[in-house]
Amino acid sequence: LSVKKELEKILTTAPSHEFEHTKKDLDGFRKLFHRFLQEKGPSVDWGKIQRPPEDSIQPYEKIKARGLPDNISSVLNKLVVVKLNGGLGTSMGCKGPKSLIGVRNENTFLDLTVQQIEHLNKTYNTDVPLVLMNSFNTDEDTKKILQKYNHCRVKIYTFNQSRYPRINKESLLPVAKDVSYSGENTEAWYPPGHGDIYASFYNSGLLDTLIGEGKEYIFVSNIDNLGATVDLYILNHLMNPPNGKPCEFVMEVTNKTRADVKGGTLTQYEGKLRLVEIAQVPKAHVDEFKSVSKFKIFNTNNLWISLAAVKRLQEQNAIDMEIIVNPKTLDGGLNVIQLETAVGAAIKSFENSLGINVPRSRFLPVKTTSDLLLVMSNLYSLNAGSLTMSEKREFPTVPLVKLGSSFTKVQDYLRRFESIPDMLELDHLTVSGDVTFGKNVSLKVCWNSYHHCKSW
Ligand code: UTP
Repeated sequence: LSVKKELEKILTTAPSHEFEHTKKDLDGFRKLFHRFLQEKGPSVDWGKIQRPPEDSIQPYEKIKARGLPDNISSVLNKLVVVKLNGGLGTSMGCKGPKSLIGVRNENTFLDLTVQQIEHLNKTYNTDVPLVLMNSFNTDEDTKKILQKYNHCRVKIYTFNQSRYPRINKESLLPVAKDVSYSGENTEAWYPPGHGDIYASFYNSGLLDTLIGEGKEYIFVSNIDNLGATVDLYILNHLMNPPNGKPCEFVMEVTNKTRADVKGGTLTQYEGKLRLVEIAQVPKAHVDEFKSVSKFKIFNTNNLWISLAAVKRLQEQNAIDMEIIVNPKTLDGGLNVIQLETAVGAAIKSFENSLGINVPRSRFLPVKTTSDLLLVMSNLYSLNAGSLTMSEKREFPTVPLVKLGSSFTKVQDYLRRFESIPDMLELDHLTVSGDVTFGKNVSLKVCWNSYHHCKSW
């Protein structure tokens, strides 16, 4: 009750032009917070988790083997590409939206995305639009940059995700006293995770506009996943389902390695596919969850979702996503929690959901400067906005790179490399301390004395 009162007080401080959307945001938050208070105990019963049945996660090769129809352009014209663009570049020491960080030959994540879609539109003579889901943290800066693409053959839309109030961990009351989010209030608000896409997309009116334009599916992915390109075979599988039963939701998964044991995995639960995240797993079963042999795959967050299904489920209030409780400590030392949801968790609410086990190359996230070093190097070549592994690399996997803490911020990292080393023959690299790299360095496995030095 006291939260409700506080939220009402906050709403009275909204200027008239912000009143409606602030009300929607606070209503959405109130519902999520109410669920958080109601739900006690674990969100999954470990005993009910089963391995997904054979045909519910199909190998990509099988999807690809169906080939492409002659009318692929008209199939493509029913697609919308959505990039999750609510996040900041803070963890890589950058201010502003993460999508505006330069990743390859001065191109930002956003540049590469636009180039990819423009290439698709030119090749197939189509009008696949790009939709960016911004947050209050990224909207202004992103919009300023968008002018740069005015002459590209890609129509770009944006909508804003919700802005929710952070909650004091002790009192469970909002930290914010009014709607502003600058000055004292800078840390009082947060974007509530990418699961917010369903409600925000619907509320923005853009979902209806796109359905009205004949669009049928969205391809959603993290903007920092450079491997998340439009795949025509998956799209064709959705538009021309082999058994005639339309599939409303596809999650691209890929095989786990020991490096990604923490990723969410697809399971069978109460007769449906369900994403289970490590945070939901009871302590006693964490090792089992991490096991590469029992749960072989993890979610890449590349998702293909039917627009009509999103509309239907949103109108029935039937999209069910587990709440992720994210504890944080604000700059002043105050402990808060923020309630979030993840887009993939909604898989269980859709009909005929399917997992597709895709090659690792479709999961190329850039989370750290170590990842950045790999994608900037000659391990990859850039073609119309897409990165592909160089054919000159003879090993099947990418090197394991761990740059030390002096490299965490992009600026420091760039300063420490006079030029990006040749890494074609590298196996792994660990750097610690105050290291700089000169020009034209080659990093490679030292086969002669492999057992002594492993790599240079
Ligand atoms: P994260 O940056 O949180 O990455 O978001 P993660 O933790 O590795 O990935 P997940 O959550 O397990 O998938 C991934 C993408 O989602 C966007 C970010 O901008 C990034 O592209 N995002 C995240 C939003 O758009 N809104 C949010 O509230 C959170």
